[in-house]
Amino acid sequence: MSGPTIAVLVGSLRRESCNRKLAHALEKLAAGRARFVQVEIGDLPLYTQEFDASYPVQGTRLKDQVRAADGVLFVTPEYNRSVPGVLKNAIDVGSRPYGDSAFAGKPAAVIGASIGAIGTALAQQHLRNILSYLDMRVLPQPEAFIHFKDGLIDADGTVHNEGTQAFLQGFVDRFLALVAAQGR
Ligand code: FNR
Repeated sequence: MSGPTIAVLVGSLRRESCNRKLAHALEKLAAGRARFVQVEIGDLPLYTQEFDASYPVQGTRLKDQVRAADGVLFVTPEYNRSVPGVLKNAIDVGSRPYGDSAFAGKPAAVIGASIGAIGTALAQQHLRNILSYLDMRVLPQPEAFIHFKDGLIDADGTVHNEGTQAFLQGFVDRFLALVAAQGR
């Protein structure tokens, strides 16, 4: 597989997560133009500043994976109108100790799926604030709020709606263009 490496952080630990299906769909639509690495965030200990003196191995692993990537893709559900705690914890772990963030300067994209009609818009807005503070180069458009219905995307990432597939294709193409531009 040639091309850039994309670190993928999915903000859901659920086995049947629609956001994980969405992440797989984006990987499939990239069609071999990039290597997608799923970053494990479920086993990260909850961040405490005491880590800064001696980082846990799971935290170092996450930071190494993000550092090795040319871009970072965040695929997030919305929990109570914001980012799920598990994703916020992963970001906190990856951003510390102060001055040693793995995220700084990286191109990023934000997308999310929900069963709710305005699904993930508020979570994504909060996430964009966080990523901007972390000095990431976040893809401004398209915004992508995927209203997930049963059967929209299979576990292997096959999209069963032509309009959604075309939209997601545009999203991944623009993200890969941003990553390529940043790498020049
Ligand atoms: C939700 N859900 C939800 N949906 C939404 O559109 N806005 C919200 O604020 C919330 N809040 C919320 C809180 C909590 C604690 C849970 C468990 C769920 C519903 C959520 O979008 C739905 O469960 C998705 O299927 C979760 O994404 P995954 O796990 O399928 O990727």
